[in-house]
Amino acid sequence: MRKPILAGNWKMHKTVAEALVFISELSKLIDGAGNAEVVVCPPFTALYPAKELTKGAIKLGAQNMHWEKQGAFTGEVSPLMLKEAGCEYVIIGHSERRQFFAETDASVNNKLKAAFAYDLTPIMCVGETLAEREAGDTETVVEGQVKQGLSGLTAKQVAAMVIAYEPIWAIGTGRTASSDDANAVCAFIRRTITTLFGSGCSEAVRIQYGGSVKPENISELMGKSDIDGALVGGASLEPGTFAKIVKY
Ligand code: 13P
Repeated sequence: MRKPILAGNWKMHKTVAEALVFISELSKLIDGAGNAEVVVCPPFTALYPAKELTKGAIKLGAQNMHWEKQGAFTGEVSPLMLKEAGCEYVIIGHSERRQFFAETDASVNNKLKAAFAYDLTPIMCVGETLAEREAGDTETVVEGQVKQGLSGLTAKQVAAMVIAYEPIWAIGTGRTASSDDANAVCAFIRRTITTLFGSGCSEAVRIQYGGSVKPENISELMGKSDIDGALVGGASLEPGTFAKIVKY
């Protein structure tokens, strides 16, 4: 049985002070809220200050990292630094990173390997653009991202990680994929993992859906066979709203 995982990707939102208020409010709201894993991914600046507050039910994740431990990479943050700051998770290859910061499947692959080397659990994001979906290329695009992103990893590593299917046309648009469409691609990703790493691995790996997830659509999405959680953007910024998603 895969443990559900609900993660909030705050993107470039919240100061340290705002992050601390959010986490203490969320902690109260989700107290005893079942067995789902709850992760918040604040900006880098708020990670370490949030560490103490997230010791209970809430886990901490980062939104990106470099793959090297240290070095002359101005503006970058290393996996070692994230680990020390209290992170257990790290989002890798979000479509905004791919689109605005030139991330490629090759850099995603380097970062995944680095995450495992530093005992961080990666949440690898994949997903197609609207043009790719309309051209009928969703599976080809997602399969390529999965194959190249996971290249050289072991079945044990892949079984322990999280993959987030985030169709780009559904991110921040209010246009959620239908639960059937989202589940179909998540099931396709799982079949791809079976082919690459075997059925033990594909049965264990957790696959999230992301893209305009809200309190109103979370239960239906979570009711689907191949959706094990959600990666939530806009609706993760207000504690009451995110708590409703967590308690779907
Ligand atoms: P929204 O929930 O705002 O559509 O963002 C989804 C997302 O990009 C999460 O990583």
